[in-house]
Amino acid sequence: MTTPTLPIYLDYAATAPADARVVEVMQRYLTVDQLFANPASRSHMLGWQAEQVIEQARRQVADAIGADPREIVWTSGATEADNLALIGFMRANRERGLHLITSTIEHKAVVDTAHALEKEGFEVTWLTPGRDGCIQPEQLRDAMRDDTALVSLMAVNNELGSINDIAALAAVAHEFGAAFHTDAAQAVGRIPLDVVAQQIDLMSLSGHKTYGPKGVGALYVRRHPDIRVEALIHGGGHERGMRSGTLPTHQIAGMGEAFALMQQQYDEDNAHIARLQQRFLRGLEGLEGVYANTPLDRAVPNILNLAFEGVDGESLLMALRDVAVSTGSACNSASVDPSYVLLGIGTPRALALSSLRFSFGRFTTEADIDHALTLIRHAVSGLRTPPRQAAD
Ligand SMILES: Cc1ncc(COP(=O)(O)O)c(C=O)c1O
Repeated sequence: MTTPTLPIYLDYAATAPADARVVEVMQRYLTVDQLFANPASRSHMLGWQAEQVIEQARRQVADAIGADPREIVWTSGATEADNLALIGFMRANRERGLHLITSTIEHKAVVDTAHALEKEGFEVTWLTPGRDGCIQPEQLRDAMRDDTALVSLMAVNNELGSINDIAALAAVAHEFGAAFHTDAAQAVGRIPLDVVAQQIDLMSLSGHKTYGPKGVGALYVRRHPDIRVEALIHGGGHERGMRSGTLPTHQIAGMGEAFALMQQQYDEDNAHIARLQQRFLRGLEGLEGVYANTPLDRAVPNILNLAFEGVDGESLLMALRDVAVSTGSACNSASVDPSYVLLGIGTPRALALSSLRFSFGRFTTEADIDHALTLIRHAVSGLRTPPRQAAD
């Protein structure tokens, strides 16, 4: 068995390394001897060729979610896609109503955007998930109102891995004439996504959670029936007027390639990750007081959020210098407050502060898992040992 490279990277939910095949594609669109032209340049062949690259990537991303390429709007990531979906939709559909429904454990890109909308005069209902991190369709039905314009509920939670039944939730939103948005940044490649079968109106996507580059993402915007979204970034009218700015050909080609590879390797990737998850869980069996915050029967297998009773999460993180993991969402890592997601599903504060999120991916090996387990067992036992009393 090979010795793993340290630190062992178990933070794939924060970001995944780009696949080398993706990087190889990205390198074709930058330098003077390559296809570096502005894809919006209509006056010469180089511009048209760059545009073709963009359109191929648009098809690759659309194919991965069962969409029409014309429904894909490029953004700088899922954060911008979430902003565009929520603010852009609510502003463009004021006559439909000023009410938005979302949940307390959405990614901050949705939570903070919904707060910004509240300041703008929109009204938000915050649904509380169950212990399993999921929102039930009945719960959504009870919250729906005549003036509800949009429902935004994530497909897979980034801290827990819990999976919402987005098709059932979208059906409830539509029953009341509202549109349905889902943040699918963590769902691509983990669960089947089909915007037609699942009746999704707006879907946020990210490049870097799927072995593509950081700094690129997309918003799926349904065309039939036409979903109207007001631009947040003006100038030039790119992307059917919804998002202006020169398109980064290399980033977009990279995301397209990453999504195409994801489709080719979907079964292989998921079988690999499920094996790693089982190995990891089996390896922890001997350790007392370890609880899964992740609802194992309703979650993607690449995210495991675990509480280590009696151990401070921050101290465990420090003790695990050779394992790259996180105490919650990376965006919150500067704060020592317990994760709002764990508190949001009713985890007691002490257990929330004793929790770490482990996440695996395509390049994680069994040797990584075994070595990480040895380090975790050692660190947890060390932190639980009561300090020796000084002899007098
Ligand atoms: C569920 C979810 N939404 C949105 C984002 C933000 O994505 P991006 O980094 O592409 O802006 C993330 C990544 O942390 C995420 O996990």
